[in-house]
Amino acid sequence: MPQKFQAPRGTRDLLPADMAIWRTLEDNARRLTELYGYAPIETPIFEDSGVFERGVGEVTDIVEKELFRVRSPGGDAERWALRPEPTAGIARAYVEHGMHTLQQPVKLTMFGPMFRYDRPQAGRYRQFWQFDVEAIGDPGPAIDAEIIELAYRFITEAGVDNLELHLNSIGDANCRPRYIGALVEYLSAFADELPELERHRLEKNPLRVLDSKHPRTLERLADAPRMSDYLCDACRAHFDGLLAHLATVGVPVTPAPLLVRGLDYYTRTAFEFYQRGAQGQQSALGGGGRYDGLIELFGAKPTPGIGFGLGVDRIATLATKAAAASANQAAAHPVAIVVGADPGATAARLKLATELRAAGVAASADLAPRTLSRQLERAAREGAHFAVVVGDELEQGEVQLRDLEAGTQHLTKVTDLARELQRAHGSHRHG
Ligand code: HAM
Repeated sequence: MPQKFQAPRGTRDLLPADMAIWRTLEDNARRLTELYGYAPIETPIFEDSGVFERGVGEVTDIVEKELFRVRSPGGDAERWALRPEPTAGIARAYVEHGMHTLQQPVKLTMFGPMFRYDRPQAGRYRQFWQFDVEAIGDPGPAIDAEIIELAYRFITEAGVDNLELHLNSIGDANCRPRYIGALVEYLSAFADELPELERHRLEKNPLRVLDSKHPRTLERLADAPRMSDYLCDACRAHFDGLLAHLATVGVPVTPAPLLVRGLDYYTRTAFEFYQRGAQGQQSALGGGGRYDGLIELFGAKPTPGIGFGLGVDRIATLATKAAAASANQAAAHPVAIVVGADPGATAARLKLATELRAAGVAASADLAPRTLSRQLERAAREGAHFAVVVGDELEQGEVQLRDLEAGTQHLTKVTDLARELQRAHGSHRHG
């Protein structure tokens, strides 16, 4: 018995029907980032593990539990890792290529797969896609609002309704330690009520306890100290400035005083997008924030930055039927299918289709030796606009051109065919 294989747990095949909406989202991402002046960047899918350990943070789920380590032949099993997110790799590239010498901010964007060895469930995959945007070299707060508005527009245009922006400031190295001190003091009184994982977090990375899903901890957190009461003057002014700019560009804000994000590099601005009513980490459609200390971690002078990553898989699931329908319409339908009266004359059909494609017409040939009526049935099923019918007239350099949508047919010269198809198809689609 041959062995049956399946896509690995937590991964999916994106079939043509899925790719139609994927393409639409990718096209929208490209169009918007061009409008807003962000240039594309690609970094390797695997990096030195240290890029993520240092960038994302040692005591984060992403590094502690979810990093896909890659073993190179004969090499060190811990040396490489698949990228769990794009920001650390982009920061590494910014420093490696001396991008601080460019006009600041350097505005970059990426659309591609990420890998986290997470427990798979609805909306949570081991390979998933992100639409990522980063602006490095501007301390904000105006750029924070610009970037948030871009993300908000992208998700809205994908057809997701009832979108909420959850926003918080998590302070900076100046004021956060005092807040962490207060939080630890408050939570320590209940340490024996906390589950094992949260006791570990309380010790190593106390802010992460705010992400708890444990019911008892959540009750305790209701009265926990809030970062907003501990912001220093500079962080407070930054946050007020951000709120004012967001109001100017018309993005409604849902305050989220306990929002901290799962990556260590954030300072000040932190945000996530949800569909109203859908809560919990795995329903976040995207998130991001400011990372004013990250570039420095890679050895460059202190450089501020802000960005977001949107979950393409999750947004694709919520995108309305309308978006999916327009994506389907854009999917590949041939303009013309070349069919013939002589089932065996496949060479003549292939030759004509090849010439049409060389002239830039989306054409295919029916290459199965079946009757003309069967070939025409298939042409209609594939959604072709025209059938090019090859018959005896070919000896005079002519073929029948049948408009399958209008139900009309006329004789035309092979030499005019490509031009005529382009004109007729173009005027039909746009007229
Ligand atoms: P993140 O919150 O870890 O942030 O991921 C961003 C988004 O990616 C999430 O909100 C979610 O929609 C999607 N996502 C994350 N993990 C999974 C998964 N296992 N399956 C499906 N979707 C997932 C970042 O990655 C930061 N790099 C964002 C950023 C950019 N901050 C500044 N610049």
